[in-house]
Amino acid sequence: MSETLTITDNRTGQSYEVPITDNTINAVDLRQISVPDQPGLSTYDPGLVNTSACRSAVTYIDGDAGILEYRGYPIEQLAEQCTYLEVAYLLIHGDLPNPEQLAAWEASITQRRFVHENVKALTEKTRHDAHPMATMMASVAGLHTFYPAGRRYDDPASRDLQVRRLIAKMPTIAAYSYRHSLGLPYVYPLDTLSYTENFLAMLFKMGEPRYKADPRLVRALEVLFILHADHEQNCSTTAVRTVASAGNDPYTSISAGIGALFGPLHGGANEAVLRMLDRIGDQSNIGSFIDGVKAGNEKLMGFGHRVYKNYDPRARIIKDACHDVFEVTGVNPKLEIAQELEAIALEDEYFKERKLYPNVDFYSGLIYEALGLPPEMFTVMFAIPRTSGWLSQWLEQVVDSEQKIARPKQIYTGKRGRSL
Ligand code: ACO
Repeated sequence: MSETLTITDNRTGQSYEVPITDNTINAVDLRQISVPDQPGLSTYDPGLVNTSACRSAVTYIDGDAGILEYRGYPIEQLAEQCTYLEVAYLLIHGDLPNPEQLAAWEASITQRRFVHENVKALTEKTRHDAHPMATMMASVAGLHTFYPAGRRYDDPASRDLQVRRLIAKMPTIAAYSYRHSLGLPYVYPLDTLSYTENFLAMLFKMGEPRYKADPRLVRALEVLFILHADHEQNCSTTAVRTVASAGNDPYTSISAGIGALFGPLHGGANEAVLRMLDRIGDQSNIGSFIDGVKAGNEKLMGFGHRVYKNYDPRARIIKDACHDVFEVTGVNPKLEIAQELEAIALEDEYFKERKLYPNVDFYSGLIYEALGLPPEMFTVMFAIPRTSGWLSQWLEQVVDSEQKIARPKQIYTGKRGRSL
């Protein structure tokens, strides 16, 4: 079988043969296809829905089969057997750590949890009702001013240091943003607590001498962090890679990723699920709600996925975590509505035909709400673990000799040749 594609340009009758590599053609090979007075042929792909823009060895997804793997390990095994920091190490380094490597990694992350007092001051200067995600975005971008050497991305030691710093400081920045939105004093990190325990303490500690999170909640948070750590070339990762392609440090690049994730079409769907469950209000209203969805009046939020056309493997794991959390916090009637909604939709021809299954967001908002977090914090909770994924992709981007500054073409639709 010839690994080539023959293209006949019917404008000229001329045929061209372009190589197929890794089941793709190189868009630059199309440039040779041209007619007089026109530039060579290019592709039009808004949203880059059918364009590979990089090679990556971080995350593998088979949407039809419902498979998600980080560095070759199935998400189910990682969620069951690992901590978030182990998974972050895996994403960054390519392999799981041995016990010594893990101890060194955890220690170096733990010792970097504090942020400069001026980062705290920066948070304090935002409005009292600032959205915590906007505050977080500004704080992460602001880290560049403390670590300008982060731009030395051609130095492996410098890259490694910035990666540890960012993974370490994200929960602190997130917690400060949250406490600021409530007008509460900030809680400093405590080295004796694990990554997630410490984060919960920084969020929720009040006057008690020592905040002790229920271990089941800590584990549920670890699982949520693992599930959200990476998802290959999604919108925010593409933003990180695009900003990095201009030669930027990770603080600048990741603040762009946070900006992309802030968007309701990307990180905000779990918030929409909660609003929907609130509106349904009672199990007796589910039937009429489903009828409205089938009539095209609205969408069943938390269902469907651009890539997963079978079942989002993360949804199944989150559903189990949900039960563990509600064991601690008491059952929320919204969980019962969600479960009933899922059961009905999975049996309904409308959803079956369209391959609509619960996605990662169907249950995650319920967990965050049960933890006591307001909807504005949901995307922040996403950004903390996604930082390890963004950084793994940033690391690939800056050493990839095939990469160039991102600079797509356009189809010009405006006027020409005007003069004053
Ligand atoms: N409820 C009802 N119908 C739906 C839903 C839904 N949630 N999602 C898709 N459909 C229908 C569409 O109306 C369309 O029907 P039609 O063929 O009769 O026109 C069909 O299913 C195919 O839908 P598309 O929009 O083509 O699917 P696409 O892959 O483009 O969209 C998306 C995926 C955006 C996730 C969509 O399913 C959706 O909007 N879901 C709800 C929002 C949501 O949960 N987003 C979170 C995604 S996970 C994440 O980003 C972390």
